[in-house]
Amino acid sequence: VLCWFYIFPGYRLPRDKEIVEEVLRQGEVWQKNQTGIDVYRKLLTECCDPRRMFAVTKENSPMGKVLWYDGEFYHSHTVNNETYPLFVKGNPLQLPLKKCAVVGNGGILRHSKCGQDIDQADFIMRCNLPPLSKEYVEDVGTRTHLVTANPSIIEKRFQNLLWSRKAFVERMKVYGSSYIYMPAFSMKPGTDPSLRAYYALADTSSNLTMLFANPEFLRTVGKFWKARAVHAKRLSTGLFLVSLALGLCEEVTAYGFWPFSVGLDEQPVSHHYYDNILPYKWFHAMPEEFVQLWHLHKSGTLHMRVGRCP
Ligand code: CDP
Repeated sequence: VLCWFYIFPGYRLPRDKEIVEEVLRQGEVWQKNQTGIDVYRKLLTECCDPRRMFAVTKENSPMGKVLWYDGEFYHSHTVNNETYPLFVKGNPLQLPLKKCAVVGNGGILRHSKCGQDIDQADFIMRCNLPPLSKEYVEDVGTRTHLVTANPSIIEKRFQNLLWSRKAFVERMKVYGSSYIYMPAFSMKPGTDPSLRAYYALADTSSNLTMLFANPEFLRTVGKFWKARAVHAKRLSTGLFLVSLALGLCEEVTAYGFWPFSVGLDEQPVSHHYYDNILPYKWFHAMPEEFVQLWHLHKSGTLHMRVGRCP
């Protein structure tokens, strides 16, 4: 399929257009389907056991346990005196979570006025430490319960926390007392920045709790979607979170998932709600992921909000 893209570089665009047209045909009509929700929760529990496995905990990763990096071949970390104390005891979430909102960073959120809608959820998940400043509140809301942080953000935005940690701690305050979910054991260079982020928060008695993503969970979720026609080198952060939410929540609504450059009104849409920096091309397969999410929307398993909120 990849070769096909290279030979016909124009191929992707019409396909995206077809997807957009299909969404337009379907509209945002949504009817909850409890059977669909139950089936998916069961499938995800069987493959990936999100309740027990989504984070590295003292329970699932005792001293001496070998954690295999999910983004590298043959690299592992053996839990030791230095890392074990940093893990939470067990799953810290009050389960089951009721209404969950998973907020992607798509430009479709801009002018969506979905902020209130998002803030009404019982548990709100966001990706990659997104901006929640005043200008965006109306569109994306203010509350957060879990936010992912890629180690590369620590490196790029906060000088790897090797200098002042104050700016980082200050910037994290916008996420209140949520969980910061970091893939500390996915890529080898990501471990140190993740541990530094842990200490920056712990040393300043921050209200935030660090959770390290369990690489085994990330790997099994990757396999789950690979079997469902998502052929990316790595799943996007948003799809990991949707999978987590489908496993843990009674009802899931997703916002900000729209990897297309035109909106439903045929107007241009930026890649993010806060900028238009495009992702590294073949790393993720967001349109492929979107198709799967849209299937779940149509079957009533997951509610995708792709237009303006009422
Ligand atoms: O780091 P990554 O590229 O995965 O994520 P991001 O650009 O910070 O956006 C967070 C998530 O929102 C992505 O992982 C996607 O799942 C989703 N997204 C989308 O569906 N459409 C967009 N235009 C941008 C992001």
